[in-house]
Amino acid sequence: MRVIIAHDPANVAQTCAELISEQLQLKPCSVLGLATGSTPIALYKQLVSRYQAGNMSFLGVKSFNLDEYVGLSGTHPQSYRYFMQQHLFDHVDIRAKQTEVPLGQVEPSKECIRYEKAIVQAGGIDLQILGLGANGHIGFNEPSSSLVSKTRVKTLTPATMAANARFFDKNEYQPELALTMGIGTIMRARQVVLLATGTHKAKAVQAMIEGPVSAQDPASILQFHERATVVLDADSAGLLKQYEYYQWVEEVRKRTNLNEFVLGQSAS
Ligand code: F6R
Repeated sequence: MRVIIAHDPANVAQTCAELISEQLQLKPCSVLGLATGSTPIALYKQLVSRYQAGNMSFLGVKSFNLDEYVGLSGTHPQSYRYFMQQHLFDHVDIRAKQTEVPLGQVEPSKECIRYEKAIVQAGGIDLQILGLGANGHIGFNEPSSSLVSKTRVKTLTPATMAANARFFDKNEYQPELALTMGIGTIMRARQVVLLATGTHKAKAVQAMIEGPVSAQDPASILQFHERATVVLDADSAGLLKQYEYYQWVEEVRKRTNLNEFVLGQSAS
């Protein structure tokens, strides 16, 4: 696992935007996996400004979002489709038909099968963006999720419901179920970039990187990914036991100018 500790959330967004930009330079028709939530908002802002400055194009890109609430239509302001339109899709040159977010109002079992097939038909995901739940979830793969799971319906934990309650009005219906790419689906992405910021993520970050791999901590499976990069701010990295070492690895990486093929993704 490559661990990049950026100074603050703005640097986290910038670093992730850079990784996406490198991917699109290598392969303009990349398949991107995208996430919602508070953390990637700054990243999407970065991508929009790079597009507006003429430094980036999404014309050839196909995208698959991680998840969607069961029962919400794409026009519902709390749906993840709406979020993506608002924060990214409406502001860049990505083709509408090339953007996929699971459909919350289609019969869920059919939609899950369709979604998995669509990812395979697109040739698989080249680069998957992930956020991190304070309980270690990735996508909506809550603790105890199968580590080889495919796209399916998950019941959100009360903790996740509480964390996301801020997006819903007081008396508004908040779904308890979500369609989510599985952990197996995420692991099949050729590259994974997870971003986390803030002290409230520090415990989950430490468990993911330095704890045992366990279904109780879904993000820890990334220790088994061949090409996983975790981009953190100083606050979310605060509990890492090997904090200095991860920084040292990045310093050496810059100084020696070795590429990934030589240096590998590992901090070890
Ligand atoms: C959203 C998603 C979730 C979030 C996670 C962190 O598509 O898949 O796993 O990434 O809940 O959310 P924030 O960034 O709001 O803390």
